[in-house]
Formats: sequence, structure tokens, C-alpha cells
Amino acid sequence: MREINASIPFDKALWRQDIAASKAHVAMLAACDIVSAEDAETIIDGLEQIAGEYEKDGVPEDWDLEDIHMTTESRLSELVGPAAGRLHTARSRNDQVATDFRLWVREAIDQADAGLEALQRALVAQADVHADSIMPGFTHLQTAQPVTLGHHLMAYYEMIRRDRSRFHDARARMNECPLGSAALAGTGFPIDREMTAQALSFDTPTRNSLDAVSDRDFAMDYLQAAAQCSLHLSRLAEEFVIWASQPFGFVRMPDSLSTGSSIMPQKKNPDAAELVRGHAGRIVGCATALMVTMKGLPLAYSKDMQDDKPPVFEAANLLGLSIAAMTGMVADSTFKTDRMRQAAELGYATATDLADWLVRQADIPFREAHHITGAAVKLAESRGVALDQLPLEDLKAIDERVDQRVYAALSVEASVAARASFGGTAPAQVRKQVAEAKAELDGE
Ligand code: ARG
Repeated sequence: MREINASIPFDKALWRQDIAASKAHVAMLAACDIVSAEDAETIIDGLEQIAGEYEKDGVPEDWDLEDIHMTTESRLSELVGPAAGRLHTARSRNDQVATDFRLWVREAIDQADAGLEALQRALVAQADVHADSIMPGFTHLQTAQPVTLGHHLMAYYEMIRRDRSRFHDARARMNECPLGSAALAGTGFPIDREMTAQALSFDTPTRNSLDAVSDRDFAMDYLQAAAQCSLHLSRLAEEFVIWASQPFGFVRMPDSLSTGSSIMPQKKNPDAAELVRGHAGRIVGCATALMVTMKGLPLAYSKDMQDDKPPVFEAANLLGLSIAAMTGMVADSTFKTDRMRQAAELGYATATDLADWLVRQADIPFREAHHITGAAVKLAESRGVALDQLPLEDLKAIDERVDQRVYAALSVEASVAARASFGGTAPAQVRKQVAEAKAELDGE
């Protein structure tokens, strides 16, 4: 029982929140004349001393004391004697843990948000530099049309923007204080819940005590936002894994985020990116774990809920590492723009531009133009040359409506410049997106 019951091995991570919530609680008890000002002061001094001890030596792990709440209260009674027993007036561990954990998750959200902002800044900085660096754009990981690297990187800016918005939503929704809900039904003491809510920077007290002690939506909102964010990070990581591979050779990753092989001296492995890709699996697992834990629990608190913390702590740790790794990867990689451009040129990426030209300049229906272009690509492929290296007579032999002007449309520059529709890959569009993103990040 001792071993299965004890949560102190992991919930000691809540010690700062537990002490802050206890101080707010006892200050309120004194303000409401539920405990004397003198006892409250004694308790607050004791709590501050305990915080100093925890800071210095860590939180002691005694399984008999079960959790962080009992551990701190027991130390308090050692330090200040019987007054310590007044701290738990009008409170239960149920509202206490719900409050502590909300405070912890709220901070985790703020940390994720700050990390993601740094990642966005790194993306925008590289996108600015590479607004007109041309690379192949892919569908099915097959060369499709030329795009700019800036455009590609800004796609991740958008994903992270949504992630941050999900974290902001989660924060706004969770920012209600459960303290004072007591075990499940509220309390008969004349407490002031507004006061504790304010002291702990919550917007308002929670409205239903049964819900307040048994709600873990805030933790699931966080985990679900973290899971979705980790999926984006894993996709970005995968781009780097592919781009850094020798056949691609699009990027040189920073040495600080790569490793060597113990046997193959030429190897430089993208371990950090691979771990970010791998961590996404674990973070999704954490979100799943808590959802399944909560499924079917009747009101109000059940001990199952003690299992809420390990997945949240694990996900927060993995997410922080993943964000930091990808921020470094984006900021410190060197993009091999020559290679990218060459790949775009040799991949027949401007085939659509040939078809579009036939439609616009020769008034050929798109389906027919598509067919003519297919024949041109086949011919170029058989000769191992790019489309714009086919002599005009050969293009004319395929369809005589082709003329000299087509070459202007077949370069990769012309191709990306043409895609200037809103949100498109044209350098001018990318520069606009970058400028707007910078303004957004600087809070304009
Ligand atoms: N360690 C417990 C948890 O994390 C604290 C709440 C205990 N409440 C109770 N009724 N046993 O959930």
C-alpha cells in the first residue's frame, strides 16, 4: 500500500506551487478571521523556511507521507508546532492538488509559448534570408513545382502560430481557481475564494466544487496542444533528416545538434532531429494516457487522478527539449541553395509552367496542354536534360504552336515569380509574409 499509494516521487515537482497556494490560503483564512493573524504569520514564516530547505536540499522522499502536501505539512508541524494544524482548515488535498497542478500547467504553457516564439523568430529570420532561394516543392515527396525555401519555412511558422493559439486557448480556459472547493462539496467556513483566486493570479474561482476537484480538462487541453505541436515539430525534424541525407544534400545541420558514428568515420547523424521525431510518439502517448485515465470516472475525486501528473511532466520535458532542438536546428543550419536549385531544375518542376504557357499564349485547353507537356518531359528525360534545354525545333515537333517566348516561362525563377497569388511562393509574397510575421512577433 505504501508503495502504490505514494506520489511523492513525482509530485514533489509541485512544491513551489504547493507552498504558494498554502500561503495564499492561510493569508485568506486570517483575513476572514478563521485563523488568528499571529498563527497565519507563524505558518507563512514556516512555509518560507521550508521553501528555502527544498530549494537547497531538494524535497525529502518519505513514502509514509504519501505526497507533497503531507510532506510539507508534516515539516511545518516540526518547525512551528500546533499552529501548523490550522493550515488545512477549510481545505482538502483534493482542492489543494487541483490548484497546485493548475498553477504548474499554467507555467508549462507559458514556457512552451516562449519557446515557440523563439522558434518562430528563427523560422522568420531564415525565411527572410531565403525569400528567393529556389528549391523543389514536393507532393508525394516527388518534385512537383519550384518553391522558395522562405515559403517552405514560413509554412512551419503558420503551424507554430496555431500551436501557440491552442496553448493560449488552454491557458484562458484553465485560469480558474479550485481552492476552497474543499473535498468536494465546498466548506462551512466563511472563506473568501475571490481573494485566493486573485492572490494566485487566477481570473476567478471555479463555479462548481464537484467539478473543480475532479476536473483535469486543463491538463488534457495542455497535453493535446502539446501533442499537436509535437507532430509539427516531428514533421520539421523529418524535413531536416531528409534534406541532410547525401542524395538530397540540401542542408548542413549544425555540428552541435548532430553526432558521429562510432564505426563509420564519414557519418554525421541527425540524432537530434530523429529524437524530436521520436519524442512526438511519446508526447502523443502521454495525452492518450491521461485521457484513458479520466475515462468513466464518476464524480468527484478518485485516486486514479493522482496518475495525472507523470504524463504531464514527461510531455512538458520532452516538448521543451524538442522545441529547443528545432530552434537551434533552424537557426544554425546552413542551407545549400545551389543544390536545392539544381534539384528544382533537374526535376522538371516547371512542367506546369509549360502547360500554363500553352493555355495562356496558344489558347490550348489545359488538358491538351498537359498532354503536350508530358511529351516534352519524356523527351527531356530521355536526353537527361532540363526542359529549357530542349531546342525549339524539338518542342515545335511536339506541338508547332510553341514558340521562342516559352523559354522565359521555363526557368525556375520565372516559375516561382509567377506564383504571386495571395499565400503563394513568389519571393514578393514571401517577403510580405515575413514582414507581417515580424510585426506580429513584435506585437504590432
Ligand atoms: N496525492 C493526491 C493526488 O495527487 C492528492 C489528493 C489526495 N486526495 C485524497 N482524497 N486521497 O491526487
